[in-house]
Amino acid sequence: MGKEILLDQPQTSRIYDYFLGGKDNYEADRVAAEEILKAWPDIRLAARVNRQFMHRSTRFLAESGIRQFLDIGTGIPTEPNLHQIAQETAPDSRVVYVDNDPVVLAHARALMAASAQGATTYIHGDVTDPKSILNAPELTEILDLTEPVGLSMIALLHFVEASVPDIVSAFLNALAPGSYLVICTITADFAPEQVSAAQDVYRVRKLPAQVRTRDEVTAWFTGLDLVDPGVVPPHRWRLEETTEPSSSFDAKVSCYSGVARKR
Ligand SMILES: C[S@@+](CC[C@H](N)C(=O)[O-])C[C@H]1O[C@@H](n2cnc3c(N)ncnc32)[C@H](O)[C@@H]1O
Repeated sequence: MGKEILLDQPQTSRIYDYFLGGKDNYEADRVAAEEILKAWPDIRLAARVNRQFMHRSTRFLAESGIRQFLDIGTGIPTEPNLHQIAQETAPDSRVVYVDNDPVVLAHARALMAASAQGATTYIHGDVTDPKSILNAPELTEILDLTEPVGLSMIALLHFVEASVPDIVSAFLNALAPGSYLVICTITADFAPEQVSAAQDVYRVRKLPAQVRTRDEVTAWFTGLDLVDPGVVPPHRWRLEETTEPSSSFDAKVSCYSGVARKR
């Protein structure tokens, strides 16, 4: 896994940063992002909704007693980052971030500024190689795997073409009962044409991309206890706002999310 930053080859982390209005992207990323926007004009909204789901699900885990977090596919730092949300509720939270993009590695220091009682660390790693992440000394130094861990893979698995059930079970088998799995991923269920066209833009640029159906996402939680309201679009997951989301909003966001607990 290379650690060299490639400027001519767009990267998913920097495209996402562009959608979120960040400054850590290059010309190749912006050109790809503008093409994706032509296919899926609301993808910026989807990125923000996904981010808000990360905030709510992390708060939920911290309020449920989780003090250890493993966040894979972290992305370029965007405030508030996951450790800031977790440590707001539980200042002693320990967070391990993982990403395979050298640009995220270059920004890792920004993710390390933990609260005085907590800890954060960063691993340059690939989700398709669970063993190398689980055995990394940086992880074992701050996480106690005999205690529950909140494992989040948010806006990550649509960039994984390998078998997600195999990846998820490799991680969950190593985690203690009471651990949580948190997922948010893109689907073509609501707006097949626009989402498939966006997927094609990624693939043409040699970026892995794979949308999933609701049944596929639900199967990833097999054997775990899904937390209410189950597998739903992220704006429908424990919504704080009082307005009822519409089906046209579901199509704009085109993602499924879910949180489940290991028995
Ligand atoms: C869209 S960003 C999501 C960032 C953050 N999780 C969020 O939801 O706001 C996806 C991140 O996953 C990373 N990524 C993609 N494939 C990966 C892989 N195989 N292993 C680890 N990270 C990966 C990308 O580099 C990128 O930073």
